[in-house]
Amino acid sequence: MNTEFRLRQLPAGVRLGLTLLLCVNLGGFVASGLHMRDHHENRDGRPGLALDDLRGAYSGLKSDSALVTALESGHPGELDGAASLSPSDTQLLLAWLASDRISEDFDNLDLGDSAPAEILAASCLQCHSRSADDPIGGTLPLEYWDDVKRVAFAREISATDVSILLASTHTHAIALATATIVLAGLMLLTSWPSALKSTLVFLAGLGLSVDLAAWWLARDRPELVYAIIGGGAVYALSMVWMMLAVIVDLWRPRP
Ligand code: HEC
Repeated sequence: MNTEFRLRQLPAGVRLGLTLLLCVNLGGFVASGLHMRDHHENRDGRPGLALDDLRGAYSGLKSDSALVTALESGHPGELDGAASLSPSDTQLLLAWLASDRISEDFDNLDLGDSAPAEILAASCLQCHSRSADDPIGGTLPLEYWDDVKRVAFAREISATDVSILLASTHTHAIALATATIVLAGLMLLTSWPSALKSTLVFLAGLGLSVDLAAWWLARDRPELVYAIIGGGAVYALSMVWMMLAVIVDLWRPRP
């Protein structure tokens, strides 16, 4: 097998150059991982929102206002020892939330005691305030408009526009597939066992094609958002492993 060409037979300068380029590429992958994490962490604290966010972007999403859902289910009356909100206050809040003046009327002085802010202050803040004993106060305060507006509105996210998705597919498909083909070629020129080479190259191809295909297919089938996440993860991990494998192989002692 000594006659077969291996990467580590290349001159040191070439190997150093390749190593640096691979490190840059690796840095790029780490940066896109961090970017995605920031993107999802930077949310308003509603559980499941990271996934909902992807659902929204790729297939569109509708969800009711959390405040309406809570009021309609009789909250806070269902909690042990909590007084129910009076039916008239419940009606006032629901009518306000159904109106198109949610932000304008929140603390509208003309409404006096029936202003939503007043009702919340009288009936909700004993639990939903940062200084309340109730632990919910820390996670879901309802003291200020900035707090309330996070749960007041129904959310409707429409799926990313087709032309934007097309532009994004065009750059991602070409750039990522090309980089992957080049990396696969380098991987084949290493001395790693061929089972490892085949597995990593196969997983990279599978992950990327599933990911990109699911971008489009998830428009009609929201459950395929999981294929976007799964495909993307498989792709990223196999790419990172290939980059590391090639770097290590470049600096192994020559045969
Ligand atoms: C006795 C304390 C208490 C009072 C009073 C109270 N809450 Fe809550 N609230 C909670 C707790 C605890 C939770 C979390 C558990 C749950 O969802 O039932 C919660 C959850 C919620 C949620 C989130 C539900 C979700 O789907 O995430 C909303 C919205 C809410 N409350 C609104 C209100 C409003 C509006 C009032 C006043 C009318 C109010 N709460 C009064 C304790 C209280």
